[in-house]
Amino acid sequence: MTTTAVANQKGGVAKTTSVHALGVAMAERGAAVLLVDLDPQASLSWACGVDPEALDLSVHDVLLNRAKAVEVILELDPPQPAEGHGVGVLHLLPSTIDLAGAELHLLTKTGREYVLRKALSKVATTYDHVLIDCPPSLGILTINGLTAADEVLIPLQCESLSQRGVGQLLDTIDDVRDYTNPDLAVRGAIATMFDSRTKLAHQVVEQVGSEYDIEVLEPYVSKSVKVAEAPSRGRSVLSHAPRSRSAEAYRQLAAQLMEPRRGNRR
Ligand SMILES: Nc1ncnc2c1ncn2[C@@H]1O[C@H](COP(=O)(O)OP(=O)(O)OP(=O)(O)O)[C@@H](O)[C@H]1O
Ligand SMILES: [Mg+2]
Repeated sequence: MTTTAVANQKGGVAKTTSVHALGVAMAERGAAVLLVDLDPQASLSWACGVDPEALDLSVHDVLLNRAKAVEVILELDPPQPAEGHGVGVLHLLPSTIDLAGAELHLLTKTGREYVLRKALSKVATTYDHVLIDCPPSLGILTINGLTAADEVLIPLQCESLSQRGVGQLLDTIDDVRDYTNPDLAVRGAIATMFDSRTKLAHQVVEQVGSEYDIEVLEPYVSKSVKVAEAPSRGRSVLSHAPRSRSAEAYRQLAAQLMEPRRGNRR
């Protein structure tokens, strides 16, 4: 089992979109996948067609030790399997706005960085891959996501040259390695909302790769209205526009992530 945290404290860089699309792509290849919504905005839960307000239990109850993960996890319809693959499994540990209060609750708790890790360890054997959608901050929720993970994937929005946040995120990852999770690996960055016609997009990829010494995985995910439309339909771009370039890019990235990890540069 591999647990991947998808993190970047910058908002709107396609963390949620990527977790959803990669999870569906892995399930298309027959994998048993758990999606973890660790964001009080609950965008991932919404995008999976789940109404967070109608839920009795969420990841919030798990973090506060009021419920076990297995009691909260929802079964989603698995996607049509890709040719040559069996039917996969797609589960969701949903979020609600209550999670916004978890930060305060956890503040006084010993071992607060480890609560998600501990909760997930009890269901770990059920899944081939766990994908964690972190919120746009470097607070205790993201630290929980990084502490529970084997590797981090960093979505980069290729529309702005200002990627200083990446340095801050890498500092946080170093802290997590020092204090809670020494084996945490940086799997790489994924270029999102990529417009191959602009020089800027290419510059961003080049700059991040060289300045921070992280691999930008290929292919890049192009900017597409199909991706933007998908969440409001309660599905991922893979179901909404299965033959689109963006869906295909996420499929190729998912196939790479399902391979065993190579030695990484950082
Ligand atoms: N390849 C793409 N092309 C066009 N729009 C995209 C693409 N990827 C994501 N988007 C859109 O960009 C917006 C931000 O994406 P998303 O919600 O996945 O980002 P996020 O990093 O999870 O945001 P937050 O930091 O708020 O959690 C969404 O409206 C999404 O539909
Ligand atoms: Mg999000």
